[in-house]
Amino acid sequence: MRIVLVGPPGAGKGTQAAFLAKNLSIPHISTGDLFRANISQGTELGKKAKSYMDAGQLVPDEVTIGMAKDRMEQADAVNGFLLDGFPRNVSQAEALDVALKADDVTLDAVLDLEVPEDEVVKRIAGRRICRNDSAHVFHVTYKQPKAEGVCDTCGGELYQRDDDKEETVRKRLEVYHTQTEPIIDYYREQGLVVTISALGKVEEVTARAMEALER
Ligand code: AP5
Ligand code: ZN
Repeated sequence: MRIVLVGPPGAGKGTQAAFLAKNLSIPHISTGDLFRANISQGTELGKKAKSYMDAGQLVPDEVTIGMAKDRMEQADAVNGFLLDGFPRNVSQAEALDVALKADDVTLDAVLDLEVPEDEVVKRIAGRRICRNDSAHVFHVTYKQPKAEGVCDTCGGELYQRDDDKEETVRKRLEVYHTQTEPIIDYYREQGLVVTISALGKVEEVTARAMEALER
């Protein structure tokens, strides 16, 4: 299956993607996680991305599209993938369409996670992620690690993302509404969008998502 996950910052895309990718046996490809891995490794790409991310803005397409395509061309993604955080504007969606067409494949669904803004703000404010792998995600009240400040998965140190400060979050939400939401209409015209509520317990949302994807 080839799936795109969309939703505002803090909707729970990364959290759900981990379970959905496992259930569907496809890799979870998160452009945000790829950027954060590049930043912690000190690569040129990471250096380019960091200032945009810290400002809550999108990293330029010429950096992002190539990185996403390279990841999608890896061997584990030939039979499908779950994209989280890409595409994030209409020109990225068009570039993805061109790449899929060249491989003679299509998307199966675009899963749109709907969450009210006040809930998103609570989720982001309490989020803590792992220094070793930003896909290891916790929350100070909703998903507490067994030992405070320590990742359950790998023992790494948990910290707050630089772009999770209140001011940056406000900017990210604005960017979501102006630049990312238009891709939902773009994909609606292709009949691909399934919208679900992302409220409730993590496992309830996963069950809802699986049911929607099976339809
Ligand atoms: P990215 O990393 O993609 O961030 P985002 O889209 O803002 O999404 P988040 O990671 O904030 O949230 P999420 O929906 O994954 O929520 P999570 O599961 O963590 O992008 C970061 C930046 O990178 C961008 O601003 C941009 O600069 C750049 N970038 C990335 N992709 C790009 C692209 N394609 N083009 C250009 N630039 C790009 O959950 C949030 C919290 O809530 C967690 O603490 C979790 O434990 C908790 N939680 C989850 N589900 C529940 C639940 N059901 N109940 C209670 N708590 C829950
Ligand atoms: Zn970890």
